Amino acid sequence: MTTDDSAPFRVGLLGHGTVGSAVAELLPDRADAIAHVTGLRPEISGVLTRSRGDFDEILANSDLIVEVMGGTDTARDHVVRALRAGKHVVTANKQLLAEHGEELWGLARENRVQLRFEAAVAGVVPVIRVLQESLTGQHVERLHGIVNGTTNYILTQMAATGASYESALADAQQLGYAESDPTDDVTGKDAAAKMAILARLAFDTPVHLSDVPYEGIEHLTGEDIAYARDLGLSLRLIGSAERLDGKLAVRVHPAFLYAGHPLASVDGSFNAVTIESPAITEITLSGPGAGGSQTATAVIGDVISAMIPPAQTPPTQHRLGFVDDVVSSFYLHVEVADRPGVLAQIAQVLGLQGVSVKSVVQKGTRKGSAPGEPGQSRLVLVVHPVLESRFYGAVQLIASKDFVTATPRAIRVIDEEFGA
Ligand SMILES: NC(=O)c1ccc[n+]([C@@H]2O[C@H](COP(=O)([O-])OP(=O)(O)OC[C@H]3O[C@@H](n4cnc5c(N)ncnc54)[C@H](OP(=O)(O)O)[C@@H]3O)[C@@H](O)[C@H]2O)c1
Repeated sequence: MTTDDSAPFRVGLLGHGTVGSAVAELLPDRADAIAHVTGLRPEISGVLTRSRGDFDEILANSDLIVEVMGGTDTARDHVVRALRAGKHVVTANKQLLAEHGEELWGLARENRVQLRFEAAVAGVVPVIRVLQESLTGQHVERLHGIVNGTTNYILTQMAATGASYESALADAQQLGYAESDPTDDVTGKDAAAKMAILARLAFDTPVHLSDVPYEGIEHLTGEDIAYARDLGLSLRLIGSAERLDGKLAVRVHPAFLYAGHPLASVDGSFNAVTIESPAITEITLSGPGAGGSQTATAVIGDVISAMIPPAQTPPTQHRLGFVDDVVSSFYLHVEVADRPGVLAQIAQVLGLQGVSVKSVVQKGTRKGSAPGEPGQSRLVLVVHPVLESRFYGAVQLIASKDFVTATPRAIRVIDEEFGA
């Protein structure tokens, strides 16, 4: 077929910001190649922003709607109306799917249209396609992901340069990796939404944003990162989702990784996801997790897939419960008065809670300021895997001791020789 006799395929664009403007620029560039493959020539039929375009008009004139507005109110309304009107939808909006995914996937099935969302998780890294298509029917045991490029950039900068959290964040903002309001990124909420979507696909059970406890990176210090380096650990914001006794644990938190872990070397604003399944052992996908042209490339890939039917997100077959308390290894940083017996007392509290210590480093003993006043020292411990409730119980007891001079800091350690 020559490209000239290709029928038009009309794409309505909701949003013309970082991603939308890149879609508007790249789609016409690729129209010839797409027409060659699909026999249809994509063209932008209308653009909606806060100040231009009319949604009803765009909807009436489109075969497919690309939603790259963000938010969960207007975006949900427009996506619902597009699906009900029998139009395919491509979205990059993780919050929308993590909060309303089941409703929207259901509407897509009912109306026999596609709702595609590769760009919503890990940008151009094709993890949705792999879970939905390549691994259909595989028993997935566990996922780990670095799914937020902003926080990964901040943490790798802190490790590489010794920068404080505040200055690494300011750097990320200057380079355009972090928004002027970075709250969703640094609190872990953005990553939690992405993990909800991945877990829903991997474990075939409904997962809502509210099922995913999350912790951010705002309280981490360069000191923790530097100390941990001595123990051979690197710090990342990790999303994890795993089966535990017929239930599911999905969470996001900072975690230390040993050097052998496939995510330990994922640096800067890159994203990566590791999928573990008995039949395939483990695969890791990595690449740029954000950026206008990168995200727009994933969006356009979805537009092309929607032009060549069909791929549906089927209804879930399971209803797994969620685990409240999981086993993890931890790093613990405690500032203490430098006097005899302190380490033994800490070890005793940990022992009584069933927490066993794997390694201890004592750091930077500082003299007291007045004569006779005890100095300060810092203990950095890594403990063997233990139920988190037991560990945090022990930390609370340690924090209440009179020799402890600052609130102890605890960070999870992903404690395994990967693949062993
Ligand atoms: N940026 C990335 O690298 C990236 C990566 C992956 C996924 N995403 C997702 O892609 C989506 C878009 O992100 P973005 O960075 O492109 O956002 P953005 O730069 O803030 O652009 C948002 C666009 O949507 C329009 N918009 C927002 N609310 C609207 C409303 N109520 N009515 C009409 N138009 C509205 C805005 O209009 P105005 O121009 O009038 O303000 C703007 O054109 C989000 O869901 C985001 O999570 C982004």
